[in-house]
Amino acid sequence: MQIDVEKCKITHYPAEVLAGRAQPVKEIDDSIRKLVEKMTDIMLENKGIGLAAPQAGIPLRLFIVSLDATRESVRVYINPTVTATTREFDSVEEGCLSVPGIYTKIRRYKKCRVTATDLDGNEFTEEAEGLYARCLQHEYDHLEGMTIAGRMNSAAKIAHRKQLKKLKENHKRNVKRE
Ligand code: NI
Repeated sequence: MQIDVEKCKITHYPAEVLAGRAQPVKEIDDSIRKLVEKMTDIMLENKGIGLAAPQAGIPLRLFIVSLDATRESVRVYINPTVTATTREFDSVEEGCLSVPGIYTKIRRYKKCRVTATDLDGNEFTEEAEGLYARCLQHEYDHLEGMTIAGRMNSAAKIAHRKQLKKLKENHKRNVKRE
């Protein structure tokens, strides 16, 4: 996949790149390293704690997480799998840089396991709970074409209908401009 990091910018719901299944990363090369740098910049500029490649406009299976929103804590997850390790849920308010203006309760598993490859090509597995588990499930959703706009329940959709409508109108305007 050709990646022009200069063109990478935050994508907003309902952009197409956020709605499709992302493709596996075939090789960890310079373009992937540059993409991760760019994604880190975008995430920190927007004060996020996680960002998936489709949110930078690139449909690849890769995301980053930094739970304290610092550059030092950024971790990279390439071709990750995230699976629940409990059947217990909780429902906590979430936001998403790609769904600006909406904070809404989302049901997630309390615990999960992530297996992924890091930027050096090493595979790792971790057990997660709390905010970390929530963040991993949120970012993994992005690789499967799902956002909090799709996950929120019907009451939340009604509560946030104005902002959802505004995002759809902005998207239409941007598509026309391109
Ligand atoms: Ni998000």
